[in-house]
Amino acid sequence: MSIAAAELRLERFAGQAGLLAKPYAREFANPHYTASTKNPAVVVVTGACGNIAYSIIFMIAQGEMLGADQPIELRLLDIPQMANNLEGVAMEIVDCAYPLISKIVCTTDYKTAFSDADVALLIGAKPRGPGMDRADLLKANAAIFTGQGKAINDYAKKSIKVLVVGNPANTNAYIAMRNAPNIPPQQFHAMTRLDHNRATAQLAAKLKVSPDRVKNAIIWGNHSNTMFPDVAHGVVVDYPSKGHVTSIRSAINDDAWLQKTFVETVALRGGAIIKARGKSSAASAAKAAVDHIRDWALGTPKGEWVAMSLPSDGSYGVPKGLVFSFPCVSNHGVVQIVQSLPLSEECKARIAANVKELEEEKRQAGF
Ligand SMILES: NC(=O)c1ccc[n+]([C@@H]2O[C@H](COP(=O)([O-])OP(=O)(O)OC[C@H]3O[C@@H](n4cnc5c(N)ncnc54)[C@H](O)[C@@H]3O)[C@@H](O)[C@H]2O)c1
Repeated sequence: MSIAAAELRLERFAGQAGLLAKPYAREFANPHYTASTKNPAVVVVTGACGNIAYSIIFMIAQGEMLGADQPIELRLLDIPQMANNLEGVAMEIVDCAYPLISKIVCTTDYKTAFSDADVALLIGAKPRGPGMDRADLLKANAAIFTGQGKAINDYAKKSIKVLVVGNPANTNAYIAMRNAPNIPPQQFHAMTRLDHNRATAQLAAKLKVSPDRVKNAIIWGNHSNTMFPDVAHGVVVDYPSKGHVTSIRSAINDDAWLQKTFVETVALRGGAIIKARGKSSAASAAKAAVDHIRDWALGTPKGEWVAMSLPSDGSYGVPKGLVFSFPCVSNHGVVQIVQSLPLSEECKARIAANVKELEEEKRQAGF
């Protein structure tokens, strides 16, 4: 390898780990901002030049995540090589003339990004490169999420809500949480909402009903092919006719489909999208992240559970601290794991397999 190529690789790595000496930051005022009685919420989006960001930023700006009356200051963070691209994204946000956006800050500097942040969407992550094994990938991401966890600890509001989207999301969230001792651990989540939404969409399609009538299908475990979509406690409302509530299992009445086709379709959906689109899911991932934060911040509808990966409190035998997907409810920003659900032997075995996988990821990442 030439010296120039080696320097470029080093610079890229240093940038991804947030280590470059000269931080960049530029503010864009939004001339279309309509002042409100509410203070703007500071929302950080990392990986702000990436595919998911290019969908989610515009959903956030439209008020889909924190509500139509909540002004927002957007902090867009990416690596130093993307500073120019960040400004292009900021210009597009201004051109959309969103009244809710008070200002846009483009930066490659953690302190500028995370200072007094209310919500952080940690989307940027190192993708697997050619010849890179899983352990190398886990270690490279551990460096990024160690740095971001420390910055959140040092600069963000203590009440910050952190959602890790960048893969391996559960282990990255665990690492960020471990590096932020002054922030309550329960405020570090990872995203399994895309798996939840995929499961709900598959069930609704099979039943030929709209997805809002399918409730409480659960995702247990890790955001990986090992995760388990579980319909044992799920229901379909107004099925077979208005006023009736029917269990998903009996409404579908096809255990073979539920146990095999359904589970595999949900688990392998990410790969199927990459194969068909040539790129990983982006708009659906953005929608899922918006759903996750909206339900966390504004509350889940009464009687409804959603899949959230969060540090285990020991529920269902999952070791304390492991960032694991559970059925959750949220009330005024406080998330609770739904307790005491009876689990089938298969479900218990699937939970154990996910615990094993996450323990192994942690070990490979050096934690
Ligand atoms: N949890 C889920 O359900 C889910 C779903 C889809 C994708 N993902 C993951 O989300 C991540 C982002 O996907 P994408 O399609 O937007 O990727 P992308 O490659 O289009 O964009 C990633 C962006 O992150 C930036 N980046 C890299 N390191 C960074 C760092 N240290 N700080 C800030 N920015 C950094 C890159 O420069 C790039 O702009 C990937 O890890 C992907 O696997 C997760």
